[in-house]
Amino acid sequence: MKSENLLPDISDLALKMEEKELGKSGIKVTEIGLGTWQYRGGIEPLKVGIELGATLVDTAEIYGTEDTVGKALQAVGRQKVFLATKVSAQHLRYQDVLKACENSLKRLNTDTIDLYQVHWANPSVPIEDTMRAMSELRDKGKIRFIGVSNFSVEQTQEARASLRKGEIVCNQVEYNLSERSIEKDLMPYCAEQGITIMAYSPLARGHSLGGNKNVLDEIASKYKKTRAQVILNWVTSHENTIAIPKSDSVEHTKENVGASGWRLSGEDIEKINEAY
Ligand SMILES: NC(=O)c1ccc[n+]([C@@H]2O[C@H](COP(=O)([O-])OP(=O)(O)OC[C@H]3O[C@@H](n4cnc5c(N)ncnc54)[C@H](OP(=O)(O)O)[C@@H]3O)[C@@H](O)[C@H]2O)c1
Repeated sequence: MKSENLLPDISDLALKMEEKELGKSGIKVTEIGLGTWQYRGGIEPLKVGIELGATLVDTAEIYGTEDTVGKALQAVGRQKVFLATKVSAQHLRYQDVLKACENSLKRLNTDTIDLYQVHWANPSVPIEDTMRAMSELRDKGKIRFIGVSNFSVEQTQEARASLRKGEIVCNQVEYNLSERSIEKDLMPYCAEQGITIMAYSPLARGHSLGGNKNVLDEIASKYKKTRAQVILNWVTSHENTIAIPKSDSVEHTKENVGASGWRLSGEDIEKINEAY
């Protein structure tokens, strides 16, 4: 389906973007954020996305995009953005976490990271070490909330148990039409425990967009949306799930922001579930 004439009206959009509570933090974040792994778009797509209401931006020390995100933050105003980054699995020892955070803050050109996530678990480092450093960073105001990424139910439980105070607010994991394994246990666990699922690769790195899937096209034309918008709306149809598509282009970014502010019906979600 062609997307050009379905691009959202800018003035409409900022008002329509839906927000969800981040874990049990009391803070709301937008259900569509902006991913930056392999991001090569410069500051413009990020700037446009944020101005249209997708105010959560996700990066990681390992992506090599924190400096670009920092520039986009400067361009739009730091206070407009909920900034998420990640500490790598090789940096999970106590001192290494503190150092990695300082380095990320410098690259991002900011004083505070809103959500600091453990990128991957590292079985050779006790999670208590990592969480002790995360708590200290939070107490010092260097980070506001603690999250994890690619953690199983068991790893999430261990991380939670090793935090003396506060909570893990979010688990960033892959979730898209072709990777739905979290539906079995992680998603219900997180829903029950009030932990947000931040769905990465929500468009399956672009692969869900091709192919001859009549059901997506039928639904897209019924709602006057694009395939990408239908897929992202399906991802965020779970109450505790938000999505962070990545796009280098302003056009795709606008399209992705337009995946929020409306809802697929239960019947149409079922049709998609059956087709995948
Ligand atoms: N925690 C982790 O371990 C982990 C792992 C992977 C990803 N992530 C996070 O999740 C974010 C998103 O995941 P991802 O980058 O793997 O994949 P994705 O967002 O599912 O897909 C990105 C691909 O889809 C294309 N695309 C985006 N919007 C489109 C649209 N409306 N129409 C057509 N094509 C579109 C992009 O091309 P263009 O750029 O040309 O638009 C790009 O090729 C990452 O950037 C990162 O922040 C986290």
